[in-house]
Amino acid sequence: MVKSVNVAIIGSGVVGSAFINQLNNLKSKIAYNVVYLARSSKEALYNKDYKPVDLASYKTASAEPVLGLDDLVVYLKGAHKPTILVDNTSNETIANYYPTFIKEGISIATPNKKAFSSSLKIWNDIFTNAEQDGAGLVYHESTVGAGLPIIGPLKDLVLTGDKVETIEGIFSGTLSYIFNEFSTPEKAEKVNFSDIVTKAKNLGYTEPDPRDDLNGLDVARKVTILARISGFEVESPTSFPVESLIPKPLESVASADEFLQKLPEYDSEIQKVKDEAFAEGKVLRFIGKVDFKNNKVSVEIGKYPFDHPFASLKGSDNVVAIKTDRYPNPLIIQGAGAGAEVTAHGVLADTVKIAERIAN
Ligand SMILES: NC(=O)c1ccc[n+]([C@@H]2O[C@H](COP(=O)([O-])OP(=O)(O)OC[C@H]3O[C@@H](n4cnc5c(N)ncnc54)[C@H](OP(=O)(O)O)[C@@H]3O)[C@@H](O)[C@H]2O)c1
Ligand SMILES: *[C@@H]1O[C@H](CO)[C@@H](O)[C@H](O)[C@H]1NC(C)=O
Ligand SMILES: *[C@@H]1O[C@H](CO)[C@@H](O)[C@H](O)[C@H]1NC(C)=O
Ligand SMILES: *[C@@H]1O[C@H](CO)[C@@H](O)[C@H](O)[C@H]1NC(C)=O
Repeated sequence: MVKSVNVAIIGSGVVGSAFINQLNNLKSKIAYNVVYLARSSKEALYNKDYKPVDLASYKTASAEPVLGLDDLVVYLKGAHKPTILVDNTSNETIANYYPTFIKEGISIATPNKKAFSSSLKIWNDIFTNAEQDGAGLVYHESTVGAGLPIIGPLKDLVLTGDKVETIEGIFSGTLSYIFNEFSTPEKAEKVNFSDIVTKAKNLGYTEPDPRDDLNGLDVARKVTILARISGFEVESPTSFPVESLIPKPLESVASADEFLQKLPEYDSEIQKVKDEAFAEGKVLRFIGKVDFKNNKVSVEIGKYPFDHPFASLKGSDNVVAIKTDRYPNPLIIQGAGAGAEVTAHGVLADTVKIAERIAN
């Protein structure tokens, strides 16, 4: 008998579409029956008799209104099959519902950070529920560093009794790019910070309003997740110091355009920090850090010697250095930390890991 699982996919944006395409091409002994596919926040494809959705034609097939979350649970449970929910949105309401899905025996694979990086209560609800008999499993490798193997290896270290000393890394592709361009080990001709921010926006590397990258909150969410996995009970992503790269007076300007227009007035401040670092043989990088010895979690501009692995980072790569009792020379994981294909691969690999445990 061929083993199978049911899969419900919420969201078909950039990552979602890549995920669907990778799933459709997956060679596997397990059959993945996609019984629900919310193409957007309004429309979904599904059949009352659980006949799988045709992934080759999901973009054009005629759809129905999406099911509410309570109705989705009823529908999925009605199939009496092991079920994996793939949440490909950044929607907080769906994330807040994870404890319920898990309690109802539905497993989750997701790149959505919200559930794991908001209040500690939701985190505890998820992982407490996951320990109960008949509960669903939860995998979220792509919530930090996209498809890079960070969460899995960190969980393995902690699970087998290693003790984390520090976790330090560059977790934003956007801020990686901006600082890699701005602060280099070679004495570059003078580049203005504001010009690089504008260039990053024009290349499509930033959020529509670059302040949503520069405020450091996305990095704070990722650090919150890594801290909690390694045993640091972070209350929320705003409960520790987060250095914002937005000049105070520009926090309240109305539009992204006006912000970019005024940003050059503040170039000299960050230029001074860069020049001082350069004189010490160091570059600037925007990092998140968990430091057990000093009982501290933070997001800040860090200074790194020219020969440090963070100093030679290229493009928009992410990097993390994990220092533990077993790895006093830190374990370093580096590579593309954003992008549809790599993020989707992380989510699909999680989906496969769950399926291997629950398919019947
Ligand atoms: N892109 C990356 O490189 C990357 C890397 C790592 C992690 N992630 C994470 O991946 C997730 C997706 O990011 P994104 O920027 O691609 O998001 P996005 O562009 O907003 O895409 C989300 C998709 O989900 C749909 N959607 C939203 N709410 C929904 C709902 N309630 N029910 C059904 N469908 C819904 C959206 O449809 P509508 O058009 O109707 O809203 C859209 O198709 C986020 O959590 C993000 O943080 C992304
Ligand atoms: C998965 O998530 C990404 C990022 O939100 C989104 O762009 C993509 O459409 C989602 N994929 C699916 C199948 O929902
Ligand atoms: C999030 O998802 C819920 C449930 O599908 C929906 O009611 C809500 O409108 C969504 N919120 C956003 C901001 O998309
Ligand atoms: C940086 O900005 C200053 C002041 O706005 C300007 O005079 C200078 O030409 C800029 N430098 C570069 C390399 O664009």
